[in-house]
Amino acid sequence: MNVAIIGTGYVGLVTAACLAELGNTVYGIDKDSSKVEKLRRLQMPFYEPGLDEIVKNTYEKGNLVFCSSLKEINDKLDIIFICVGTYPLEDGYPDVSDVKKAAEEISENIAGNEYTVVVQKSTAPPGTVEIVKEILQQKNPGESFGIVSNPEFLKESTAIEDTYYPDRIVIGADNEKAFSVIRDLFDPIIEKSKCPVYKMKPIEAELVKYAANAFLATKISYANSIAMLCDKLGSDIKNVVKGFGSDRRIGAEFLKSGIGYGGSCLPKDVKGLISISKKHGMDFNLLQEVEVVNDNVKDYFIEKISKEFNGDFKKEFAVFGLSFKPNTDDLRESPALSVLEKLIRLGAKTKVHDPVVDGSHVHLEIEMSGDPYEAARNSHAAIFLTEWDEYRNLDFKKLYGLMNQPIIFDGRNMLDGEMLLSLGFKYFDIGSIGS
Ligand code: UGA
Repeated sequence: MNVAIIGTGYVGLVTAACLAELGNTVYGIDKDSSKVEKLRRLQMPFYEPGLDEIVKNTYEKGNLVFCSSLKEINDKLDIIFICVGTYPLEDGYPDVSDVKKAAEEISENIAGNEYTVVVQKSTAPPGTVEIVKEILQQKNPGESFGIVSNPEFLKESTAIEDTYYPDRIVIGADNEKAFSVIRDLFDPIIEKSKCPVYKMKPIEAELVKYAANAFLATKISYANSIAMLCDKLGSDIKNVVKGFGSDRRIGAEFLKSGIGYGGSCLPKDVKGLISISKKHGMDFNLLQEVEVVNDNVKDYFIEKISKEFNGDFKKEFAVFGLSFKPNTDDLRESPALSVLEKLIRLGAKTKVHDPVVDGSHVHLEIEMSGDPYEAARNSHAAIFLTEWDEYRNLDFKKLYGLMNQPIIFDGRNMLDGEMLLSLGFKYFDIGSIGS
């Protein structure tokens, strides 16, 4: 099929590359012409394992083409995806103005096609599909296009695998013809992964996306609340999670305690759902608390450091990890950055290591170190903020020898605390030992 994807951000580029790899002709469109130029030179706008190779192969084969607008495409398009940003307005409500602009561009460019399905994939408030439909109807007869909502559930760092092996595909469509076109597009993925396909109304599909991300955030804040209680009870959160997370109705995933959730999606979508609910006359108090816990757990962690140093932060700290989670260079809403910022504000001197982030885009005055052991040299404590495997595999005996004081604060509950204690470290995490 001929597919255009408006927006080559995370979701747009991954979707474009995978659909091209599946044999479709895909046009990745971005109004940012310098980004388009870079993509044509095969320079990736972000780090995502495996993506560069798929983009390179499909681009060189001619299955993936990059351009700046729909106007540049001569082929007749079967499907057009909207994958643009919906950044929060001041009150947290998602700004759909780029979705509307994309709809206008589509509206002006589908007249020559026999039948085009527009897929609204950007995370946008329930009702956005209706808005897009109204824009398209102004210039095009109703039977010339179909519109569906198809929320994405990709996780950064496993986005390719999540595309090919999704837990489910949700298609919000009120028109059978449009639904079948999109189902056919995803057929190779459905065949291979055997994932279920859920057909529902567009407005329901739009809500599914918010409900999913807000629930994941809720699980994390819940686990963090239990972890803080574990500290008080002198018990280990890992055992407690094992015990209750193995109940299939609960599920063990997304119960890892630490300095909280971040990234470009969970914080934005929790805020978004609170604000969407408010617009419809409902206070989503539960989610407000989820946000409060997510903020508090960072202060709780800092408090542990403060206690150990009697409130005197004028020390040298080795800080490990900047990105919001491992295997990505994404710093958006990174809990690691927000803890680092608090430490600096308290007077801490930090030497920071991250396996992929070089620090040039960090708005804080920080000293980066290309080598974790160098970062730790002469430090009064090492603070782990992102759970890269590389950090789990450090030579802690060597680290012990390099540090001024062998103290470790583990903000991601990622290290083997017992082993570190046996090596002579003082070890602190959130909700297990040494707290
Ligand atoms: C999230 C969702 O997981 C995806 O399903 C969704 O498609 C995506 O948002 C989106 O809306 O585009 P992502 O932002 O890539 O994906 O990151 P997650 O893997 O969900 O992690 C989010 C944050 O939660 C990270 O800071 C991570 O460290 C933290 N986290 C995750 C925990 O603190 N504990 C956990 O148990 C899991």
